[in-house]
Amino acid sequence: MDEPGEHEHLRRIPFFEDLTPEDLERVARIGEARTFGAGDPIVAEGSEGQAMFVLLSGRAAVEAGGKTHDLGPGDFFGEMALLGRKPRSATVTAVEPVECLVFETMYFKPFLIKNPSVAVAILEGVVERLREVQERIG
Ligand code: CMP
Repeated sequence: MDEPGEHEHLRRIPFFEDLTPEDLERVARIGEARTFGAGDPIVAEGSEGQAMFVLLSGRAAVEAGGKTHDLGPGDFFGEMALLGRKPRSATVTAVEPVECLVFETMYFKPFLIKNPSVAVAILEGVVERLREVQERIG
């Protein structure tokens, strides 16, 4: 049984800062904690993916468009396969030991609909990435 307030540490992730204690507990319930070693591929380009990842600790790198993007605690990835129903668009590799929460589409989509603040945080991240790509090709 979860203790009340047990998952408050997740509030340090900007993504989750506005959630009620109940919704924060739901995040902890639907998110599966996973760890990866330095050099491990976390997702592979072209593979089928049904999950989004939120980095809790460590650093990861995305190889996309001939560029490397660094990801750190609080960053997310894997939203493109989750929302776009297409294979993974890039490979994401752990550059040091990584701890993350993995959210399966089946559980995460209904959660997003109930928690617009998290959906908006994902949109903001996607817009930032889109802008970076536009500037690079523009
Ligand atoms: P997805 O396609 O599911 O798996 C690979 C992930 O890498 C992708 O979701 C995004 O989260 C991330 N990604 C892809 N392209 C970029 C980019 N240009 N900048 C930052 N992250 C990216």
